[in-house]
Amino acid sequence: MMNSEVDGDRLEGYDLIAVLMLVLIAGLDTTWNALSSAMLHLATHPEDRRRLVAEPALIPTAVEELLRFYAPVVLTRETTKDVQLGDTTIPAGELVLLNWAAANRDPEMFPDADKVIIDRAENRHIAFGTGIHRCLGSSIARLELKIAIEEWLGVIPEFELDDPESVTYSTGHIWGPRVVDVVYPATVAAARS
Ligand code: HEM
Repeated sequence: MMNSEVDGDRLEGYDLIAVLMLVLIAGLDTTWNALSSAMLHLATHPEDRRRLVAEPALIPTAVEELLRFYAPVVLTRETTKDVQLGDTTIPAGELVLLNWAAANRDPEMFPDADKVIIDRAENRHIAFGTGIHRCLGSSIARLELKIAIEEWLGVIPEFELDDPESVTYSTGHIWGPRVVDVVYPATVAAARS
């Protein structure tokens, strides 16, 4: 970033710090919420979990499906002019929610949109947004999720929720489970100690 130039302009001073802050913050609660949703899903859907243990090559496909289904990010835009959307006019200067999570459940785009299908063959979800501001970190986010699930399942293939009542959620623009207490067999605990 310090060495790059766009149309003769360099990133300097406050702009450089602002971009660094953005990259840092944009990469934190996005990935941890995506991962905690994935873990909650695997803790509560043994058939999916066991299939990924038996067929780890499916993990990247499953990551895409978990991102589609539990899309953790919903951001906003401010309209710069009046916008006509169907019968509604959104006036200039309004804040608008971009509900990528809802688009990811569009039944015209995704057959059985309300089901997690870990080997869904076609999956053009927009959990990372779309257009000019599409997520800069999507490749590393996908890699983090793949590695985390692979490593966890490699060591702890069997686990379940300790107490479904104890799951808590963070809400807002970046949402997901905050506390997902799981239990796993004593044999695994012994092997790890
Ligand atoms: C599962 C994890 C992640 C999800 C679901 C996610 C999702 C998103 C979404 C929906 C946007 C907004 C696109 C828009 O405003 O149109 C975005 C932007 C962004 N993301 Fe991510 N993100 C994730 C991980 C990361 C990581 C790990 C990084 C950095 C290491 C990152 C860096 C950014 C940056 C810098 C932007 C702003 C791009 C721009 O405005 O041009 N994200 N992300």
